[in-house]
Amino acid sequence: MYKLAVVPGDGIGAEVTNEALKVSRAVADVEGFTFETQEYDFGGERYKRTGETLPDSAIEEFKKFSAIYLGAIGHPDVKTGVLEKGILLKIRFSLDQYINLRPVKLYPGVWTPIKDKGPEDIDFIVVRENTESLYVGIGGNFKYGTPDEVALQEMVCTRKGVERCVRYAYELTQKRNRRKQLHLCDKSNVLTYGHDLWQRVFKEVGKEYPDVKQEHAHVDAICMWFVKNPEWFDVIVTDNMFGDIITDLGAMIQGGLGVAAGANINPEGVSMFEPIHGSAPKYAGKNVINPIAAIASAGLMWETLGQPKAAARIENAIAKALGEGHIKTLSAGGDKSTTEIGDLIAKFASA
Ligand code: IPM
Ligand code: MG
Repeated sequence: MYKLAVVPGDGIGAEVTNEALKVSRAVADVEGFTFETQEYDFGGERYKRTGETLPDSAIEEFKKFSAIYLGAIGHPDVKTGVLEKGILLKIRFSLDQYINLRPVKLYPGVWTPIKDKGPEDIDFIVVRENTESLYVGIGGNFKYGTPDEVALQEMVCTRKGVERCVRYAYELTQKRNRRKQLHLCDKSNVLTYGHDLWQRVFKEVGKEYPDVKQEHAHVDAICMWFVKNPEWFDVIVTDNMFGDIITDLGAMIQGGLGVAAGANINPEGVSMFEPIHGSAPKYAGKNVINPIAAIASAGLMWETLGQPKAAARIENAIAKALGEGHIKTLSAGGDKSTTEIGDLIAKFASA
């Protein structure tokens, strides 16, 4: 019996969460496990009503769950940054979810903007450090608003933070057992302190994984290679800021944010699963958005929670639904509604 804390969040979050849970129930039934959910209404509406983003008590409560499932955060009436920092980043940081796992996988039947590349070329995974770098929120403004203003935004890399992330990436590369190749993505030619630490740790930890081939690419070059030669990649490890940026590019080459899944993992604690996409407020409540990214994120959840067969069922069901042409378009307002896509994938996943 698993216990899930569910935060549907804003905009389309609730709709995609429903489908992710629907598919989860279907696979749990056939695989013979159960889960119960407890819903939390954190998000823009609650913030507008109460002025509260996410109280510390919620973090304490979350620690009692097997996992957190989150739909989407972001509200048009709330100043940018408030909900992102107050909810999303607060959960990631407080629960020390130091790995942000983002698979970039082109499913069969999905259109990619990269000419002449297919599912066999686009199948890699980004391991993004999830608690440090420019995200730590250290800095400030001096002489604010004056012509003499100074603004500082510090980038923090710690030995512990880098090492545990790099180690996770090596382990994953071994376990994935594909090309057994790990790329470090950094900007060590300019960030000669922080990313020098990444370089040293990457090489040092790599000695423990002699079967994993070490590769390196600067972040600007990786953007170029994602587009030109995506087939070169197996696993990529990178810092928080660059991981944020390159995974949006990754999402585009895999067919868009509609299929891009994500996981915020604390291997020793409580993890959170969420699609990479935002809350798309203009489509909210219309049953038109495709929930595949959310469903795939639930797949990552079951994988992480020790139900690999359930995860494989979800993965195969998505591949079948897309590969056999049951879903013609991934953009909002395609041939199938949100609930129809959820029903279809639930059916395939439990077959
Ligand atoms: C993501 C998002 C978040 C991030 C924002 C909403 C704070 O872009 O999950 O990639 O930058 O991590
Ligand atoms: Mg992002």
